[in-house]
Amino acid sequence: MPVVELFAIVGGARLVGEVAVSGAKNSVLKLMAAALLAPGRTVLTGTPQILDVAIMGEVLRRLGCGVSTEDGTVTIDCPPELSSEADYELVRRMRASICVLGPLLARTGEAKVALPGGDNIGSRGLDMHISGLTRLGAEVTSEHGYIIARCPQLAGATVWLDFPSVGTTEQILMAGVLAKGTTVIDNAAREPEIVDICAMLSAMGAQISGAGTSTIEIEGVEALHPVTHRPLPDRIVAGTWAMGAVMTRGDVTVRGANWRHLEITLDKLVTAGATVEPLLADAGFRVSMDNRPRAVDVVTLPYPGFPTDLLPMAIALASIADGASMITENVFDSRFMFVNELARLGADVRTDGHHAVVRGRPRLSGAPVRATDIRAGAGLVLAALCADGRSEVSEVSHLDRGYPDFVAQLQSLGADVERLDVPQIDPSY
Ligand code: EPU
Repeated sequence: MPVVELFAIVGGARLVGEVAVSGAKNSVLKLMAAALLAPGRTVLTGTPQILDVAIMGEVLRRLGCGVSTEDGTVTIDCPPELSSEADYELVRRMRASICVLGPLLARTGEAKVALPGGDNIGSRGLDMHISGLTRLGAEVTSEHGYIIARCPQLAGATVWLDFPSVGTTEQILMAGVLAKGTTVIDNAAREPEIVDICAMLSAMGAQISGAGTSTIEIEGVEALHPVTHRPLPDRIVAGTWAMGAVMTRGDVTVRGANWRHLEITLDKLVTAGATVEPLLADAGFRVSMDNRPRAVDVVTLPYPGFPTDLLPMAIALASIADGASMITENVFDSRFMFVNELARLGADVRTDGHHAVVRGRPRLSGAPVRATDIRAGAGLVLAALCADGRSEVSEVSHLDRGYPDFVAQLQSLGADVERLDVPQIDPSY
């Protein structure tokens, strides 16, 4: 009989204690792709044990790499000759795998990558990826569900992005490092993950300036060498714990997190009434809360704005806050889809275009809900922690993609949560 995996959560507990944050999913996946740029052994330490890292490992294996992911260390042995075709089914399962396009093209002169799948959060086109690579001299076509890019030798050029897209900035970076001449990315993304990949590429021998600013300049080099690198801590996982502490009126120390990457988020939590203290020696931060949070308005924007990946948690927080909040999403076009699920828990959310008005309620009410993407799932879990009675969050494979040991960490903070396999009635009967 088929089973569905779900989290069963009984609300009411305060989250109290310490959690540790590992390397950022959205950095590690791109750093794994960057390993394709240099034959030899790349080692990434402190990585999260999550499904997306396993999928990216498999993508690289099918390209010819040896990959092991053990105890948080990802080891990639990249051969001198690579296959130029990324596995269709794997790429469809994870949008981030499109980032192998640039490095494959730079290394082999040709890349064939499936049009990616990914989260249900918007249309998420690839137009900027394609026009950027075209500017560097690639001929890019789309056939039978694949993007095919060809160019025997990429040539540096200036690429102006319509929007500071994280994925496009990374794509052009990984193509530009081995291109002939100078590449300039204007209106580049400034996310900490961009600074991280630039740090690793520079250690590999790339010539990059302007990382973390809107203009990145890359002087192409002939070859790169592999390195050992520790990715930056996951700011979205850290922000999720901070939000959870505030929503449950708890007291959580988030070890290993970098509070500077979350300044605007933590400032919102202080405005809501929380106390936030950085730990000594940059070892993380502590968030505590005694009262019901006050309502705060939130507007998502590319970094250093409020991260879109924390939007569902911000809506969950607003749904139990004292007062009404206006939440505005500016990065993805369908990120509000999950509010129908939040409404099952009793949240009062009205959306109009990319705005949501949330009227806070003192308590939510436990119910079965469905995670529609990683972050929506995390928002629903936090809301369920504040709901009377039992909730069941299903489709938790989304959470497995980005939150290592989520249930165990929640339990260690005092939450009443367990992961269950529930048999399903076979619809063919
Ligand atoms: N966009 C286009 N055309 C393009 C590229 C992007 O229209 O060629 C649009 C997207 O549709 C979106 C906006 O530009 O509306 C921003 O997209 P961006 O390229 O910045 O996002 P991404 O690289 O696809 C990464 C993270 C997301 C995170 C965003 C924004 C990874 C694997 N994913 O996506 O993380 O929300 O940056 O910070 O790095 C998550 O972890 O749950 C997640 C969705």
